[in-house]
Amino acid sequence: MAAAGAPAGDGSPTRVLLFTGKGGVGKTTTAAATALRCADAGLRTLALSTDPAHSLADVFGVPLGPLVAPVADNLWGQQLDAQDRMEEAWEDIRRWLLEVFRWAGVEGLEAEELSVVPGLDEVFALADIRHHATSDEWDVVVVDCAPTAETVRLLSLPDVLARYMERVFPVGRRVSQVVSPLVARMTTLPVAGDDVFAATERFYERLAGVRELLTDGRRTSVRLVVTPERVVVAEARRTHTYLSLFGYHVDAVVANRVLPDGVTDPWFDRWREAHAEQLDAIADGFAPVPVLRAPLQPAEPVGAGALRALAEALYGDEDPTARLGEREPLRVRRDGAELVLELELPFTDRDELEVGRTGHELLVRVGPYRRGIVLPDALRRRRVSGAALRDGCLAVRFADPAGPAGDGDRAGAGPARGEGRPPTGAPSAGVPATGASSG
Ligand SMILES: Nc1ncnc2c1ncn2[C@@H]1O[C@H](COP(=O)(O)OP(=O)(O)OP(=O)(O)O)[C@@H](O)[C@H]1O
Ligand SMILES: [Mg+2]
Repeated sequence: MAAAGAPAGDGSPTRVLLFTGKGGVGKTTTAAATALRCADAGLRTLALSTDPAHSLADVFGVPLGPLVAPVADNLWGQQLDAQDRMEEAWEDIRRWLLEVFRWAGVEGLEAEELSVVPGLDEVFALADIRHHATSDEWDVVVVDCAPTAETVRLLSLPDVLARYMERVFPVGRRVSQVVSPLVARMTTLPVAGDDVFAATERFYERLAGVRELLTDGRRTSVRLVVTPERVVVAEARRTHTYLSLFGYHVDAVVANRVLPDGVTDPWFDRWREAHAEQLDAIADGFAPVPVLRAPLQPAEPVGAGALRALAEALYGDEDPTARLGEREPLRVRRDGAELVLELELPFTDRDELEVGRTGHELLVRVGPYRRGIVLPDALRRRRVSGAALRDGCLAVRFADPAGPAGDGDRAGAGPARGEGRPPTGAPSAGVPATGASSG
């Protein structure tokens, strides 16, 4: 959608800011305030909502729908309809799946249902974010996400789906040259035609680009919105852990609805104490991630005036598009002849952490989430010699390949050093070593 009349961009890549947090903490409000602040600074700004319970329009006080629409000078808004997008992109693949199910004796409604991959519609919302971020039309894309549980699921989808797709449709050449003739000879299974492969490849491309964009800390940051309440902060910690696991950069915590200093009525004493306590917990717990604060406003912040006041409190002299905190969640460093892969997993308990190795992947599970980290070339030929979890950072050591006992790729990790829990061997649930999932 052309941002007519907007100033030309300076050629730097589009900045993507994702706002997430527990239900009702102020994601939509702070995302809207941030977008307006960016627009006021002359940046071509798009405010997008991926939350199916759209409320961006209410906060701006203008109608918004699935098409990009103007909100204010330099500011446009869109409430994505993921379902629509999916139908156009997935149709070829779905038709083939239906054939396969029919071949397997699954008919009618049941087959229809099976051909719907859960969460797939949401992936197309992510693909839309990428589309906008690479279109050259926007300086900033501010995304109002769904509450945390859905957002984490959403943001883990490119990873999870890439695996799923790899299993169901081993991609491209390999399939047409190896699998298809084999399958065709042995069975009467409907072999996917070129249109299906083309669609699958397009789908992969979308996924790959999404992941690359969203996990590049120079371009994309997640801002974690909390209110100074124990339960909310506890959930935000979990979110931070899971986001880091999947390689997303949280560059700030937004503490919203903080009781303002001006409130001195003794009735609020307990609230003030509780807020002070939680603000300390936030600052300590999330450090070095910076904390932005927005006081409880005198009324619901709806409309441009109220949003500007909120943004002023949040950012002051700070550039809202700056990368506020710069921690890399995943890095590799050298330690003598060994290489150490470090993964930030803040607030993780060692009892809920499992690490394993299969072929080219390092499998990391934290609580309910699992990620297969495709190892960089430099690490693939090395044996895991130890792993430790310290101060919310998992360090996995890879031995010098020239050193003793280099028994290659399939080795499970050796005993952990320090206080970490030893990684398990390759887990029995066989996850294919893919090149298409994560980086
Ligand atoms: N700083 C603030 N001061 C006063 N009211 C606020 C503040 N921030 C948000 N609110 C109000 O709190 C309510 C919830 O805010 P908002 O809709 O932005 O939260 P959300 O996290 O997007 O919620 P949901 O999870 O339902 O999407 C709204 O009524 C909003 O106007
Ligand atoms: Mg909301």
